[in-house]
Amino acid sequence: GATTLTLPPGGYDDFHVHLRQGALGTFAVKQLVASGARLAYVMPNTVPPVTTTAQALAYRDWLVAQAPAPHLRYCMTLYLSPEVTPEEIERAAAAGIVGVKSYPKGVTTNSDAGVGEYDAYFPTFAAMERLGMVLNLHGELPSNDAEGIHVMNAEERFLGHLERLHKRFPRLRIVLEHCTTAAAIQTVERLGPTVAATITVHHLSLTVNDWAGQPHNFCKPVAKTAADRDALLQAVRSGNPKFFLGTDSAPHVRARKEGPATAAGVFTGAYVMPYLAEVLSRIGALDRLVPFATAYGRAFYQLPANGADDGAARAAAPAVTLCPDPDATIPAELTFVDETGATTA
Ligand code: NCD
Ligand code: DOR
Ligand code: ZN
Ligand code: ZN
Repeated sequence: GATTLTLPPGGYDDFHVHLRQGALGTFAVKQLVASGARLAYVMPNTVPPVTTTAQALAYRDWLVAQAPAPHLRYCMTLYLSPEVTPEEIERAAAAGIVGVKSYPKGVTTNSDAGVGEYDAYFPTFAAMERLGMVLNLHGELPSNDAEGIHVMNAEERFLGHLERLHKRFPRLRIVLEHCTTAAAIQTVERLGPTVAATITVHHLSLTVNDWAGQPHNFCKPVAKTAADRDALLQAVRSGNPKFFLGTDSAPHVRARKEGPATAAGVFTGAYVMPYLAEVLSRIGALDRLVPFATAYGRAFYQLPANGADDGAARAAAPAVTLCPDPDATIPAELTFVDETGATTA
């Protein structure tokens, strides 16, 4: 029989989600609303990436227009790149942009050491620290045979960079996004209170054995070993508020997932809360769902408590039906413009 899960009024908070553009974006937003989210922390890796305050505000307006959801707060981010100067950070902070996401490619150009290139952004980080913006790290070194870096150790090999950044900017709030390893959990636990991490639902479930050869389970960082997966589960079970939900729900068009080279991204979409309930109930930790998915993230981000900031919008919010029928929102035929700008029927 059906099981009903009741979330706090309005729903859960997703501190890491890819909402795309075009028809795929409209679909992603509808799935987000159907999923019961009341907060979406929006990744900036669109095409082109969101690198200016003006772009971020225009993107937010576009997202808001895709589905009626007055109870849903969109938190916007910039993509770390040379355009994100200290002056741009001033504009961003004044406009309410919350964070800056750093991707490995954006920092590795012309650099053997990869993340060593972060030095060029120290003035940007200093401005962020001063103005209270958050740095969101995609914590992987690029794979490199000469240096023995591959998808299974790319996160662990990155952790020294996280630690150095934290030491250099101790008041800058840093989120290690979508952490996937026992080593990452231990590092985040050990560092100061300005360092936290998001955990996806799929990384609480999948291991390397689930994605090797199965493109719909392939994402970056890749799911690691069962011991790593269990360390993530234990972090959630522990109730340490440094670890909170960021789904990294990341849709791609079918041709990009099932084609000759699979795009990284697991799309949990509207099913993410039932999925989270399932993985936590497997370890007898269903009682951790609500704080993990509605409280710890807001506390770290210093946002108003879930449900506290929006009386009228909350009253107007539709009841959240979990186990929804998200297929109902998928048009039978749809033309997508994918992240590369290519059109797929
Ligand atoms: C990229 C990576 O890991 O290098 N991630 C990915 O392809 N999923 C970063 C990016 O292009 O977003
Ligand atoms: O799996 C992933 N998908 N990892 C990323 O870092 C990017 C994301 C996407 O945009 O598809
Ligand atoms: Zn990422
Ligand atoms: Zn992501």
